Amino acid sequence: MTDTDARPAPPEPRHLLATEGMPAAEIGRILDCAETYVAQNRSRERSPPLLSGRTLVNLFYENSTRTRTSFELAGKRLGADVINMEVAASSVKKGETLIDTAMTLNAMHLDVLVVRHPESGAANLLARKVNCAVINAGDGNHEHPTQALLDSLTIRRRRGRLAGLVVAICGDILHSRVARSNIHLLNAMGARVRVVAPPTLLPADIGRLGVEVHHRMETGLADVDIVMMLRLQTERMSGQFVPSVREYFHFFGLTREKLKAAKPDALIMHPGPMNRGVEIDSEVADDIKRSVILDQVELGVAVRMACLDLLTRASLP
Ligand code: NCD
Repeated sequence: MTDTDARPAPPEPRHLLATEGMPAAEIGRILDCAETYVAQNRSRERSPPLLSGRTLVNLFYENSTRTRTSFELAGKRLGADVINMEVAASSVKKGETLIDTAMTLNAMHLDVLVVRHPESGAANLLARKVNCAVINAGDGNHEHPTQALLDSLTIRRRRGRLAGLVVAICGDILHSRVARSNIHLLNAMGARVRVVAPPTLLPADIGRLGVEVHHRMETGLADVDIVMMLRLQTERMSGQFVPSVREYFHFFGLTREKLKAAKPDALIMHPGPMNRGVEIDSEVADDIKRSVILDQVELGVAVRMACLDLLTRASLP
């Protein structure tokens, strides 16, 4: 037996793949840790480089502005070496399978792989094939856990709690990983979730997700604390799900008029990118008293720093 064989096996890497099944205590721990990074992100002071010598790879098979940039910033602020794999320029375009790409990256001894992919389940598959921590940055219409975590941090900072709040998630629920991750997380934290959408934009399994279903904004928004709008995910649609964008805006677009049904101080959220005039009117999106859309972007960096911190700390030998 060589010295190398005698060394204890490295601990199994932990991953962040979904909010489904995540215990409330763990969610609370991530949000509390993220709080510590919020102030730090606003100052020029940097914390000791926790991730110094560690490598983070962003592997994005779908477009992204906010999520990729914020993982990049989070990694750099913690002192990691961050590499953005340009999927269009990589061997993926030459037909390399996801698993081959993973094995190649594996050989480079990464610590964290952040992956976004159009197929639901892609992040789980990769997590079984690589020996580094995997963070799901959105897989098809399945999950996008860090988005839900940053949404909850935004709500908690504004309202002081999550439990007991009523949250309406409105629009294209069917194709939205953001909706799924938020439903699981908010339910785990004791919030009450409503979904508001035309029947064509609701998943068949909506009944088992523990939400109240509404088909009209007027009733769905009645007395809610939070209004979370979603983009029509046209890139995931095959066929026609709404008669026309104009009609969709008329019935489901958030306007000042429709917002009157919600609590007078209800917060307006949107994960971005927004389609103004489709799911949301500019007047409400830009209302600085009610809209927390830019807070969501800001807090995304703190949440991702917390996730990187907790995941890599856990896998230290
Ligand atoms: C969302 C996504 O990619 O799932 N955006 C994001 O991460 N900020 C929502 C969307 O694309 O509509």
